[in-house]
Amino acid sequence: MKSVIINEKLCIGCEKCVKDCVSEKLSLKNGKAQYNAERCILCGHCYAICPVNAVTLTKYGEINEEKVSPHHIIDSDNLLSFMKSRRSIRRFTKERVSEEDIAKILEAGRYCPTGTNAQDFSFTVITDSLADLEKDAVSIFRKAQKIGGKLSAYIRNSTIDDNFFFKGAPLVIVVNGKGKTSSCLASSYMELMAESLGLGVLYSGFFIAAAKLMPKISKKLPTPDGHDPVTCLVIGHPDVKYERIPPRNEAEINRI
Ligand SMILES: Cc1cc2nc3c(=O)[nH]c(=O)nc-3n(C[C@H](O)[C@H](O)[C@H](O)COP(=O)(O)O)c2cc1C
Repeated sequence: MKSVIINEKLCIGCEKCVKDCVSEKLSLKNGKAQYNAERCILCGHCYAICPVNAVTLTKYGEINEEKVSPHHIIDSDNLLSFMKSRRSIRRFTKERVSEEDIAKILEAGRYCPTGTNAQDFSFTVITDSLADLEKDAVSIFRKAQKIGGKLSAYIRNSTIDDNFFFKGAPLVIVVNGKGKTSSCLASSYMELMAESLGLGVLYSGFFIAAAKLMPKISKKLPTPDGHDPVTCLVIGHPDVKYERIPPRNEAEINRI
C-alpha cells in the first residue's frame, strides 16, 4: 500500500517535493509529482514542502495540519544562554510533574532527528514504581560496593543512600533504544523541553548501570523487543537555584 499519496488535482507540478526528496523517490510525470514507495523513509519532507498541501501521508491516518511557526527562529543568544544555564539538578521539591508537562517532554523527544526517520526509541515513564525500582538499584549498588571492582572510584567512595538514584524526584523517564544515537538525541530534546517548563533534570547514568547489572530491574521496565535502556532522565521541580554558569574545558576543535 502506498504511504504517500499525491492529490493530482491539487498538485501544481512545482517539483519542490521532487527536488527535496531524500530517497529520490518522487519524479515529475505529465506535469504532476509521482511517488515510488521503494526506499521511502516517510520523512514527510514532501508533505512539509508542498505549497498547496497536495500530499497525504497515509501511515499516520488523519493529520491535523500543523503549520511551521513563522517565529520558529529562536534568538540565538537567548538559546545559548538557556543551554549554558542548564544544570544537573539533584534536589527536587515533592511537587508532581503535571500530565501536560509530561506529554510535552515526550512530544519533544518524539520529534528529534533519527537515522532513516526510524524513531527507534521508546520511553518508559515511571511515577508509581519509583520507590520499588530505586530499592532494587540501591541494593545492587550496595552489594557491588562491598565487592568493589566493577564500580568506578567515584562510586566506591560514595554514600549510597535510599535516594541515590532518583533524588526524591516525582518522575523518571527511561529512554530505550536499539542503538544509542537516537535515544541520546531524544533525551537531549526532552531535557531542554523540561528546562523550558521550569523543571530540572538529572541524567542518572548510575540507574542505567544498575539496570544492566541486575536483570530484575530491566525486566520491570516495559520496552519493545530489542530495546535496551540507554538514558534515565530524573525530572522534577528544582529545589535549588543557581546564580552563574560554571566554566567548562575548551572544546578541542580541528579545522581542515
Ligand atoms: C549520560 C550521563 C549520565 C549521568 N549520570 C549521573 C548519575 O548517575 N548521577 C549523577 O549525580 N549525575 C549524573 N550525571 C550528571 C553529570 O555528573 C553532570 O552532567 C556533570 O557533572 C556536569 O554538571 P552539569 O550537568 O550541572 O553541567 C550524568 C550525566 C550524563 C550526561
